[in-house]
Amino acid sequence: MSISHPDGDYGSIAKIFHWVTVPLMGLALATGLVIPHLKDDAKNLFYTLHESAGLTILLLSVARLGWRRVNPPPPLPESLPRPLRVAATATHHALYVVLILQPLLGFFTTNAYGFPQQGDTAFWGIIDLPKFMEAREGLAGVLHSIHQVLGWLTPFLLAAHVCGAIYHHAIRKDGTLMRML
Ligand code: HEM
Ligand code: HEM
Repeated sequence: MSISHPDGDYGSIAKIFHWVTVPLMGLALATGLVIPHLKDDAKNLFYTLHESAGLTILLLSVARLGWRRVNPPPPLPESLPRPLRVAATATHHALYVVLILQPLLGFFTTNAYGFPQQGDTAFWGIIDLPKFMEAREGLAGVLHSIHQVLGWLTPFLLAAHVCGAIYHHAIRKDGTLMRML
């Protein structure tokens, strides 16, 4: 427990997981939203960036949740009213669902379309991933639709999260933002 943040800090490993994920999520979202509007010959670079950023988020988030089990985060401030407590916890849970489920959906979508991450779209352009399944167009369509819906919801969830952080910092002045910095 620190003097500047009386409810306790996040540990430095938890902070690294949090802040490394932010630009990767920015990359995954920006490329994901641009891909449908690109000409076919320009798509592969964006697929590579999108899928590699997304899979890296998945790997980091699995490690992060493992780390979190062993090193639980500091409790929410005592002064936080119950509705805000519920909202903060629900948002964090929803963010973890996106961090894990969205890359898995994307991964199974590409595989079900018959495009394993090999050659031009290898992981970060370097590592060929094994072909995971035979192409199954119907399944690919369903997974793609769910991935699209969750992909479009993600910016709103992130906006709510960031607004919450700013609200804590600027209005409640309870040190919540500082303990993640
Ligand atoms: C947190 C990680 C991810 C986020 C936030 C994300 C988000 C998105 C978004 C917003 C779209 C555009 C939806 C649309 O308007 O059509 C999209 C499309 C797509 N994503 Fe992801 N995605 C992630 C991870 C992945 C991963 C890991 C893969 C594959 C390994 C993947 C494969 C795809 C594919 C194949 C499309 C369809 C692109 C097209 O229209 O051709 N995504 N994603
Ligand atoms: C890709 C973008 C982001 C994602 C996916 C994300 C995700 C998360 C998650 C899952 C947590 C819960 C950590 C835990 O208890 O295990 C968290 C906490 C936190 N995030 Fe973010 N975050 C993002 C961006 C930001 C930004 C831009 C800010 C600042 C403006 C921010 C500020 C915070 C703060 C202050 C906490 C700690 C809240 C508390 O102490 O209860 N996050 N974030």
